[in-house]
Amino acid sequence: MKLTREEQEFLDGRHGPAARKAMEILAALGTIYGAERLVPVTSVQIAGVSYDNLGEAGLHFLSEMAAGGGRAQVLTTLNPAGMDVENPEALGIPAEFAENQRRVIDAFARMRVVTTCSCTPYLFGNLPHFGEHIAWAESSAVCYANSVLGARTNREGGPSALAAALTGRTPEYGYHLEAERRPSVSVEVSAGLRGSADFGALGKAVGQKLEAAGQRLIPYVRGVPEASGDELKALCASLATYGGAALFHLEGLTPEAAQYSAPSQTLAITTADLEAARRSLNDAALEEVDFVSLGCPHLSLNEIARLADLLNGRRVTKEFWITTARPTKQIADRMGYTAIIEASGAKFAVDTCCVVAPIRGRFKALATDSAKACYYACAKNKFKTLFLPFDDVVAEALR
Ligand code: F3S
Repeated sequence: MKLTREEQEFLDGRHGPAARKAMEILAALGTIYGAERLVPVTSVQIAGVSYDNLGEAGLHFLSEMAAGGGRAQVLTTLNPAGMDVENPEALGIPAEFAENQRRVIDAFARMRVVTTCSCTPYLFGNLPHFGEHIAWAESSAVCYANSVLGARTNREGGPSALAAALTGRTPEYGYHLEAERRPSVSVEVSAGLRGSADFGALGKAVGQKLEAAGQRLIPYVRGVPEASGDELKALCASLATYGGAALFHLEGLTPEAAQYSAPSQTLAITTADLEAARRSLNDAALEEVDFVSLGCPHLSLNEIARLADLLNGRRVTKEFWITTARPTKQIADRMGYTAIIEASGAKFAVDTCCVVAPIRGRFKALATDSAKACYYACAKNKFKTLFLPFDDVVAEALR
């Protein structure tokens, strides 16, 4: 892989040991994936922020990079952490975990990373433009950035995203290349879709068919005449979870779709497929829901406004977490939505989510509108799941 003079200086240690380590990571990755060069990035999003995932080894790596003079060269934000950074006690986060999580956040802050912890950076200012090269890590956000925004990113791991932040570069391979963004399979959707939960179920149905096809395919989806930003957010999270997809094109809706024609290999998604996906997200052995969560991916302001309408003047009967980004919550504070929601007994769980918080064993069954949350709540936290449309999740919390 060819390096520019400045990149070689990174590798030679002229910008300090952390920048050298970062360039070593990128050079190794570029060599593995056959990249010819590095490309400048305009934005980075780092995942693997929860101390629950990082552990002491991950924290040690971050502390070393901070001590070694690592400084973000471009706008860089974080994925959710393991707690509400300003209010861990309200969510029952153990003090020792909170202390360790703070050390993680401090290490990122020393590296001049913006310590806003969210999987929806595009909702609060980390918003790349069409065609920009970026290095993002969170799978749902990667899928959103590539597909909905038309930016270009591979699905980075935590260390490679940090390396991109500290050098402002990433190896040019995969989704950074025009030729690698072409759709390879048509998906004909004949099922009607209404609301984010349906788009989550669609992501699961499509994702499973892609997995069964056995190759990394880029879907060209047809038959979905409209979709809101929130619905696309749900589709991206689910498609990334169940099909490992980092890019899709949606005819008539996503920005690169018009430059391609539909591939001849075709998968069909019928009403029966959608119903089967919905059913599969509901645990047959479910007895009683004791945990409710909305905000996977993190809620938008529109969704919070809807929630405030549904909860106004009512009391929830179960532990109910509303997960969102802090800047989104701050707007909700000013709009009066936060006061209405908190008066119901529901809790904002800002900076975190029901998957990355250390809550294994605390609850038995989760109600959610997120197909992705269902997957991880089961796989990681061993919760049973009840998958419902947004309004019905709120009704479950009030029941
Ligand atoms: Fe975001 Fe957590 Fe879901 S990181 S996409 S809310 S699993």
